[in-house]
Amino acid sequence: MPGYWVTPFVLASAITLTVAARAQAQDVAAGEKVFKNSCGICHSAQPGRNLVGPSLFKVVDRQSGQIPDFHYSDANKNSGLTWNVTTLDRYLVAPRELVPGTKMTFPGLKDPKQRADLIAYLATLR
Ligand code: HEC
Repeated sequence: MPGYWVTPFVLASAITLTVAARAQAQDVAAGEKVFKNSCGICHSAQPGRNLVGPSLFKVVDRQSGQIPDFHYSDANKNSGLTWNVTTLDRYLVAPRELVPGTKMTFPGLKDPKQRADLIAYLATLR
């Protein structure tokens, strides 16, 4: 392959990567705002700090109901869910539909972009 084909390809890849990295950073910052506005009243992002709800530090990839000193509902404790991008997205749109009987009295985040940003932020809490 002649060299002049390689250069535009490499450049295009570099640009794509830069744009992707920026979009990601922006999502996390937007997600932190969503967290502060919608979750922070009941959840902290610090390890071991439970409020009305359990600490969400390291929540991504955690099994439901695992914070030892938090008093969960049976519904949450026995949900059998592991919190990942897929389950968090389904949960946060309507918590009481995925986990009927949960004591998390939060109606849900209907905006898919807000949920994606928020979950990107939650993934940084580790
Ligand atoms: C009104 C208070 C309140 C708000 C607002 C709230 N939560 Fe909760 N959350 C709780 C409570 C209480 C629980 C425990 C539920 C149970 O035991 O049934 C909980 C549980 C959870 C769990 C399960 C944790 C685990 O260890 O299994 C996740 C994940 C979660 N909340 C995420 C969020 C996110 C993200 C937001 C913001 C969009 C949010 N919550 C908003 C009160 C709240």
